[in-house]
Amino acid sequence: MIFDDLRAIQLRYGFLPKAELEGLSQHTQTPLYQIHSVASFYPHFHLVPPPKAEIRVCADMSCHLNGAGELRADLEGRFANSRPDEVQIRDVSCLGRCDHAPAISINDHIFADVTAAHAEQLARSVVRGDDIHEPRPEQARIACKADPYGESEKYAVVRELVQSNAWDDVLAQLKAAELKGMGGAGFPTSMKWDLVRRQPDPVKYIVCNADESEPGTIKDRFIMTNLPHLLVEGMIIAGLVTGAKRGILYIRHEYRLQEEILGEEIRRCYRAGLLGNKILGSNLDYDLEVFVSPGGYICGEESALIEAIEGHRAEPRNKPPFPGQIGLWQKPTVINNVETFINVPQILARGTDWFVAQGVGGSRGLKFVGVSGHVARPGIFEVPMGTPMRDVIFSHAGGVRGGRQLKAFAPSGPSSGFLPAPAVDVRLDFKALAEAGSMMGSGAIVVCDDRTCMLDMALNAVRFYRNESCGKCVPCRVGSQKMADMLMRWTQGGVPASQYRTDLALLDELSQAMSLTSICGLGQIVPAPIQSVIKHFRAEVDEHVLQGKCTSGICFTPAARAGEAQRVGIRP
Ligand SMILES: Cc1cc2nc3c(=O)[nH]c(=O)nc-3n(C[C@H](O)[C@H](O)[C@H](O)COP(=O)(O)O)c2cc1C
Ligand code: SF4
Ligand code: FES
Repeated sequence: MIFDDLRAIQLRYGFLPKAELEGLSQHTQTPLYQIHSVASFYPHFHLVPPPKAEIRVCADMSCHLNGAGELRADLEGRFANSRPDEVQIRDVSCLGRCDHAPAISINDHIFADVTAAHAEQLARSVVRGDDIHEPRPEQARIACKADPYGESEKYAVVRELVQSNAWDDVLAQLKAAELKGMGGAGFPTSMKWDLVRRQPDPVKYIVCNADESEPGTIKDRFIMTNLPHLLVEGMIIAGLVTGAKRGILYIRHEYRLQEEILGEEIRRCYRAGLLGNKILGSNLDYDLEVFVSPGGYICGEESALIEAIEGHRAEPRNKPPFPGQIGLWQKPTVINNVETFINVPQILARGTDWFVAQGVGGSRGLKFVGVSGHVARPGIFEVPMGTPMRDVIFSHAGGVRGGRQLKAFAPSGPSSGFLPAPAVDVRLDFKALAEAGSMMGSGAIVVCDDRTCMLDMALNAVRFYRNESCGKCVPCRVGSQKMADMLMRWTQGGVPASQYRTDLALLDELSQAMSLTSICGLGQIVPAPIQSVIKHFRAEVDEHVLQGKCTSGICFTPAARAGEAQRVGIRP
């Protein structure tokens, strides 16, 4: 409940006054330091009064490629004479609008495809005391191949299962389909569900991870907008199969529209007897609720997400034990990604053979991918698993914008690192991407044209991780800062050749230490972007450091130098 209390106080005062936190501490019998430790963790909460208009410019991968730096510089100029209690301009991590970059938020309202003039107009009206409203795209639901129902009656799989109680059969079908987790790690879903099903504890939970905060990752937003019934059905099936009686849909707070859509869908299911006690007249019970994330990329890590639901700082737990054994409130918990859940009713409604036949080149199923960066038609596309990246980028997303050449692409945001243009025929598949030295991740394809500086992109990615590190373990907390410092020096010139050799050796040592000793996947993946750039674009890195030259004209400029000063301080 702590987040509800903190949100209520913030709504009343605009920030969290000390006296109110003390009152909350007394009222809830919670030590003040505990309340403060939570309030100070999440960037969403203000411990001091915010300005009238707080403009936050997303500086991450897709926005960075689409002029976020220039937008911010322009805004700084426009508000140079404003008082700090009226307007402040700060950084913000990916807002989940990567297909409409650059994105900003003003007092937590998100605006995408924004220009400096528009942002200025919005901020000035807030300063005058006017209300501003986040645009709500009113768009009919998009029909997807993944939907087994179309216009016909939905929830047919649940209806059938409450009659048959064929739980083992569900697990067998998911196993035969080889369904893998779509949240990044690709863990077999049937194994995860089976583990929880076998736990003797009568209390178990199902959690859907809709945190989706990695730059470039926007597919779950699309799925929740267009296929909410499949997500709810997948979560109900997970509960029935594993014996969990309560599900929690954990959604990032920047997805207000999707929160509403899912809230409506859940209410509809309660009215139809598909949720609650005695589902469809059976002896099965299952409740489902939405939990709005207090914010931060680390909340997507499954054990950090559990900590957040429990009302703590979102700091990942040491594993093992895994959530399947000891998860939410110490109970066995299934945590799956949005796309993983929607695959379940598809497989059960249409059969494993149908699912297998949807992929190409030996891959199985369909895949939702988000494509952003320098493409003509950024967006979310539903493609057969196994589709060559070339088709995704050039056919679906319209190719590189402005007729430019492709230089590189990240198959899945910063965590996948970058692949060079000649690798564009790699297939969208767990194994194929791993063999190419990258990963499927969350299907966040970010495209870079031939004017992109790859060292600058690596620095951008490291800064994202440095900012989002929860700080619990030293290798990640200190290592990400050291790496950002090193790359910044490389992009600013004046590093002697001997120092560069030392730096490269240190970078390898640091990368290894971080990968091996960080508690969670965030710290382990920090080295990926720069290591991929060194592997595929070494000459470009050498040119920067040894000749002080950035062919793209991005580094060595006052604006680039200002970048670091602007990008500190995401956490309050
Ligand atoms: C830093 C970090 C952030 C993550 N963010 C997400 C996320 O937003 N959504 C997600 O489904 N998985 C995310 N994951 C992966 C989850 O920890 C977990 O593996 C996943 O939710 C399991 O679901 P799946 O088996 O369906 O893939 C993240 C992992 C890390 C290390
Ligand atoms: S690796 Fe980073 S994000 Fe993960 S627990 Fe350690 S400090 Fe936190
Ligand atoms: S909204 Fe800026 S990178 Fe996603």
